[in-house]
Amino acid sequence: DSNISELQEKWDDQYFQELPREKSFSGNLMFKHDGFWCAEKVFHPIISFQKHFKSEDSDILLATLPKAGTTWLKAIVFSIVHRNDCTVDKSPLINSNPHALVPFEYQVYGKRENPDLRSAPGPLILSTHIPHNALPRSIFDTKCKIIYLCRNPLDQFISQWHFIQQIDVEENKPIALDKAFELFLQGKEYFGPFWDQILGYWKASFKNPEKVLFLKYEDLKRDTINQVRNIAKFLELPFSIEEEKNGLIEDITKLCGFESLKNMDGNKPDKVQPGLQIKNSSFFRKGEVGDWVNYLTPDMVSRGASLIEEKFGESGLKF
Ligand code: A3P
Repeated sequence: DSNISELQEKWDDQYFQELPREKSFSGNLMFKHDGFWCAEKVFHPIISFQKHFKSEDSDILLATLPKAGTTWLKAIVFSIVHRNDCTVDKSPLINSNPHALVPFEYQVYGKRENPDLRSAPGPLILSTHIPHNALPRSIFDTKCKIIYLCRNPLDQFISQWHFIQQIDVEENKPIALDKAFELFLQGKEYFGPFWDQILGYWKASFKNPEKVLFLKYEDLKRDTINQVRNIAKFLELPFSIEEEKNGLIEDITKLCGFESLKNMDGNKPDKVQPGLQIKNSSFFRKGEVGDWVNYLTPDMVSRGASLIEEKFGESGLKF
């Protein structure tokens, strides 16, 4: 029975047994592996990805912390890459949630070492939450492009705290906002500490700007059209003069906008992501910048701001 052998393997694993462990906001276990907090549920698939992923030159990797705007980035990149497959009004985004079109590595890897990643037409677009230093080495041996999207950590925290109230919380009830905030300040959240992850990709984008594009949710929100143009250029799939003239960038921007995606058939509350067991609608809450102001006390804000200054002050990265 595969379930029993999986469990056996899991608990026989000395490495796994000795990892530091904590409870996440949702009350579920997470383990500190390769410098990041990995949810128990995705631990083995992620290790499998790290060990076995074989990159190709045309691959595109989207990297984010949970709630930094992953769904939006997936929709935009999918639309750019597949823009010649069909017109915007027939986009697969109408009936499918972006996570179904661009999977996370842990959805495809499961326990399999060699999932069939390349059966769909077009380049492989894969998504991950793991930090730059933990990526499979093979990614650095090819021309695989990495797009990193970050978000103001306080907004990302508030978004995550809301999200976990909606998802299937297994053993324990999700914790109160103030308790979750304490964990957040200690970097104890899924795929955190957030500062290590953000700075890792930030530095990599300076070292190798052709390989790593560093984006901010706030910039994407403020100036979506230019950012979409920029993403296409980075992917070496720039919009032609003809496409620009025909308003294709505007069309893609509109298609992937918050209200547009939220109201698509594929994202109605009754639709669930099979691999994730999460309602598709829960990926669309408010889609705003600065919503933390409605939830955090002045003391929390001040502590959060000090931490952000302490961690990012020298990097030149501003939120
Ligand atoms: P809020 O909870 O602040 O509304 P992720 O996709 O990484 O899970 O992040 C989800 C966050 O991105 C949620 O933030 C969600 O509302 C927001 N979001 C989803 N689609 C968006 C879009 N098309 N434009 C802007 N924000 C979007």
